[in-house]
Amino acid sequence: MGHTLSTLDDVQERYAWFEQMRATQPVWLDEQSGAFHVFRYVEVERVITDFSSFPSQGVCNSILGMDPPQHRSYRNLITCAFTPRTIERLKGRVAEITQALLDEARHKGEMDIVTELAYPLPVTVIAELLGVSPTDQPLFKRWADGLLGQQLSDARLFQPDEQEIQRLGQVHAQMQDYFIALLEERTHAPLDDLISVLLRASTDGKRLSGEEVIEFCKLLLVAGHVTTTDLLSQAIRCFDEHPDVLEQVRKQPELLPGAVEEVLRFASPFWRLTRMTRTEVRLAGTTIPAGTLVFAWLASANRDAEVFPDSERFDITRSPNRHLAFGRGIHFCLGAPLARMETMVALPMILQQLPNVRVIREKPLELFEGEFVFGLKHLPVQFDTE
Ligand code: HEM
Repeated sequence: MGHTLSTLDDVQERYAWFEQMRATQPVWLDEQSGAFHVFRYVEVERVITDFSSFPSQGVCNSILGMDPPQHRSYRNLITCAFTPRTIERLKGRVAEITQALLDEARHKGEMDIVTELAYPLPVTVIAELLGVSPTDQPLFKRWADGLLGQQLSDARLFQPDEQEIQRLGQVHAQMQDYFIALLEERTHAPLDDLISVLLRASTDGKRLSGEEVIEFCKLLLVAGHVTTTDLLSQAIRCFDEHPDVLEQVRKQPELLPGAVEEVLRFASPFWRLTRMTRTEVRLAGTTIPAGTLVFAWLASANRDAEVFPDSERFDITRSPNRHLAFGRGIHFCLGAPLARMETMVALPMILQQLPNVRVIREKPLELFEGEFVFGLKHLPVQFDTE
């Protein structure tokens, strides 16, 4: 469990390990770290729904680390920023950004789907959503990159590295300063952006403090783009590995939503979530003491054959497809509609405008190192030019 995943072969090996663990030790104590790991759908769902949040998920003092009742009032306040109307309104803009990115690459006959499209697209969308001015976007992207390096391994989670803490501290401090200034501006002159909406938001007479708005902006930057990058690039990889599927979705675009859900199940961007026990708990016959860390492997749950028949098969017509890629329960991903929308807008444009697109596999595809996120660092593709 110690080594990180660097290639798709490692990922395959890890999936084989998940299968073995589901069959033999569905609730497993890692003696080295003292943390428990769960692998089957039924326990993963219970752990992420019922257990307490882990206060520091490596990000910041965010909503992810809150339990009820604090979580409920905070979530109610921020939900107003992600209404179906906001998402619908953004659709046109997502298409424009995608078009501009495709235009830069279309004549070249090859491009890196990750760095030239799947990464800049969600970062730009979030920056615009938040109201970061276009001139500041390179700065914003630099922070996103800085936080992206924050892939904590198990070992580091228990014994964080001093240098890493310092580096992250610097990124957080810069973002903090930036958002404080932006907040100040919007307090005096509100606009139609998310920061202004958050500042205005109130339920039960409660408002978000400036501090809370800033924490949320920082979380969005982290939670909202790396995962969407993964979803989009993994979709292209999965289609490439299943040419029949590619053919099918080209001919029948109505199959695309199901295909995106299957990518979420089959190549889940978020591999696992962390929770804590507050009291002693019995789980599948195993006793977990109070105050213990529990890792819930979404990636494993999403391949559990008890819930997904023929679970190792990439099947875009799978129904039902109750995957856990966006989590479950009170912390269910707030940005799921946005991530789905961005993918649903960008994918058909990629398939239409990059004729005969295919992944270049001269070298093994490189992954982001880490235990939490399954993402490709690069996805070089070739396509025909007119
Ligand atoms: C929560 C995955 C995109 C914002 C979560 C959780 C998962 C997840 C698994 C649950 C965490 C937990 O239970 O501890 C994903 C995936 C995405 C994606 C796979 C893309 C494919 C986004 C986007 C945004 C976003 C685009 C916002 C712009 C959030 C927020 C939470 C969250 C704010 C915390 C909700 C809460 O604690 O109540 N996401 N996410 N996510 N996600 Fe996403």
